[in-house]
Order: sequence, then structure tokens, then C-alpha cells
Amino acid sequence: MKRPIYLDHHATTPVDPRVLEAMLPFFGEDFGNASSGTHLYGWRAEAAVEAARETLARGIGAGEPTEIVFTSGTTEADNLALQGVLRAAAPRRDHLVTTAIEHPAVLDAGGALEAEGFHVDRVPVDPDGLVDPDDVAAAITDRTALVSVMSANSEIGTIQPIREIAERCRARGVLFHTDAAQAVGKIPVDVRGDGIDLLSMCAHKLYGPKGVGALYVRGGSPRIRLQPLIHGGGHERGLRSGTLPVPLIVGFGRALILAEEERAAEAERLAALRDRLWSRLAESLGDVHRNGHPERRLPGNLNVSFGGVAADRLLPALPDVALSTGSACASGRAEPSHVLAALGLPKARIASAIRFGIGRGNTAAELDHVAERLVEEVERARRAGVGT
Ligand SMILES: Cc1ncc(COP(=O)(O)O)c(C=O)c1O
Repeated sequence: MKRPIYLDHHATTPVDPRVLEAMLPFFGEDFGNASSGTHLYGWRAEAAVEAARETLARGIGAGEPTEIVFTSGTTEADNLALQGVLRAAAPRRDHLVTTAIEHPAVLDAGGALEAEGFHVDRVPVDPDGLVDPDDVAAAITDRTALVSVMSANSEIGTIQPIREIAERCRARGVLFHTDAAQAVGKIPVDVRGDGIDLLSMCAHKLYGPKGVGALYVRGGSPRIRLQPLIHGGGHERGLRSGTLPVPLIVGFGRALILAEEERAAEAERLAALRDRLWSRLAESLGDVHRNGHPERRLPGNLNVSFGGVAADRLLPALPDVALSTGSACASGRAEPSHVLAALGLPKARIASAIRFGIGRGNTAAELDHVAERLVEEVERARRAGVGT
């Protein structure tokens, strides 16, 4: 069977063969534990980890490699940032400010803190999914320990005014965290230039392996106090114990180098593919709506509501395309998208929304085929009256 055209690059990406090649020796002869300081196996593993750490630090504009803490992914990095900062700041500061459109890794970590007695405010977004920095500033109180606003949204691709939000936080002496899972390697990320104190990221959104991520924790003063989630051998400066997954870390570093080298050209290519897909849909079909910001969005992201056609009925009619309704990275939850709901969209528009995640392997011919198939199936569904 011919494999479906993959258009779900926000959920995950394939490992680039060049990344896999870089990883392979660390599954083989260079299998050492990066903490084994007494022999060659350990030294080689440690050298590889430190090289990747330096690459990641440089890639996001950090000052020092020691500011990178390896984790199992973005979810863990988000939890370490939120729980770690809030627990260390309590009881004097027990308030978290975040937004209504965060990934569940942030929203539910906030919920868990709330259940323990911490206070959480979730600022709203405008109809395009943008956070107003002044709304964030207005939510900050004397008890606020942390503000967490994602860099780019995984459903609608909206890119937030991170620098302006970070400025508001700094002015109030509050730490600023951003979940940059969808941003790193796709759009410029500069932690020092943007005034970011903590940043979460992972490898599997940028053609690296699943199972590895990192939290950037700004060094220097004022010092960021973090309570670890995982205790043990004191790895990662005591912030995240556990033997480091050396092959995954090596792959993460290689993936970021490639993504950065190719970023500008790839962003241009993806944006052109996305715009071509959108214009074909908009030209051929009436009653289609683009969700999210018209310009401030990830180059490979398109989110479209097909009026009168339920997305969960449309997708099974398109087995030749791998697509999602939005929040597939949240364990296939069947609830309506909290992101689209936060934009204030009517229920029918939420139920008819499909997310397109265009990526490295996609071609113009594929996108044209997808547009053609969608037009066919939407028209068929509308004729059959498969409503929302
Ligand atoms: C914005 C955002 N944060 C967090 C996650 C979770 O990342 P991970 O799979 O690395 O835990 C994802 C995607 O799954 C995401 O898009």
C-alpha cells in the first residue's frame, strides 16, 4: 500500500537520515555512560553530550552550554519549569500566569499546581490567537513567580510577541518561560535577545528522535531557583537525575544544526507551499475559513474550517493523507480544540477544523494532490449533507 502523504509535522517529524547517521555510533561502539569518568567509553559519551549541549545553547542564543538541562521531551521541560519554579518560589510567590492556548503540558501542569493550592491565571487571546503583552502585564501581581507563554502554537501556528511579553515580565521582576517546541528550528529563537529566562524544546519536532528534550535555564543573576522533579544521581547539575540518553542527545544536536542551516530557505519554501494550498482551497470551495493569524504564523502551518463538514467525518474519507484535527499530540483526545475555543470561534467552525502541518519531505505536487482530494471530498460531503 502506498503510504499516505504526511501532513502532520506539528505532531512529530521523521528522523532525518543525517541525524540517524550521527546517532548510530552511540548505539554501537560508543555506548558508554556519559557519567563514567574513569575510561574511554565514558569520556567519548561525555564529549558527545557536551558537544550537543554547546550546539543547542548556540542554536537558541544562550550564553553558556551549562544553561541547557536535558529532559525526556518538552512535556518534562514544561513541568520542570512550571513546577520547579513555583515550588522553589513558594510560599512567598505562589502565582503563575499563562494563556488559554498553551499545550496541555503547560495547562495541565498549571492545573496540578492549582490542585496543590497555587494560583493560576490564564490570559485570553484575540480572535487570531495573539496574546496581548499588556494583558499579561495586567495579570502579574506581587505574588507572581512565573509567566509562561508559548512561542508558537501547535494548532494554529500563531507566533507570539515573546520579546514584548518578556520585557513586561522583567519590568516586574517575574521570570518568563516559553514553550518553544514548535518554534525552535522553524523561526528565529534568541533567548538572550528576547529576554527569555526558561525555554522548553525537543528534538522530535525538528527531524530528531523522540524521547529527548531540554530546558534552557538562564544562568547569572538574578539566579533562577528550580526544584527538581526527578531525584537521583545528581545529573544535569542536580536538576534532572538519570543516565543521559547519549544517542538521542547526539541526534538532537545534529537535528538542530541542520534545521538552523536550512531554516531560512526551508521557511520560505514551506510558506509558499502553505499559501498555495490555501489559495487552491479558497478558490475552489466556498465557506472555508483560515484559523489563526493571517501573517504571524509558522511557515508550515495552516488550519482551515470547511463549513458544513465535520472534520472527524472528512478525515476518514481521506486515507491517502495523514492529517489531524489539531491536538493530536495530546494523546488523541477527542474533545473540541481548547485553542480554537479560546479564539471565540463558533462550535461548528471548531468541529470542522483541520490542521495542516507541512514539512521537510513535502513537495508542491503532494500539496496539489491534497488540495484536489480535499475539494473532492468536501464537495461530496456537502452534497451528502454530512454536517457539523
Ligand atoms: C507546544 C508544544 N508543547 C509541548 C509538546 C509536547 O512535546 P513532547 O512530545 O516533546 O513532550 C508539543 C507537542 O507534542 C507541543 O506542540
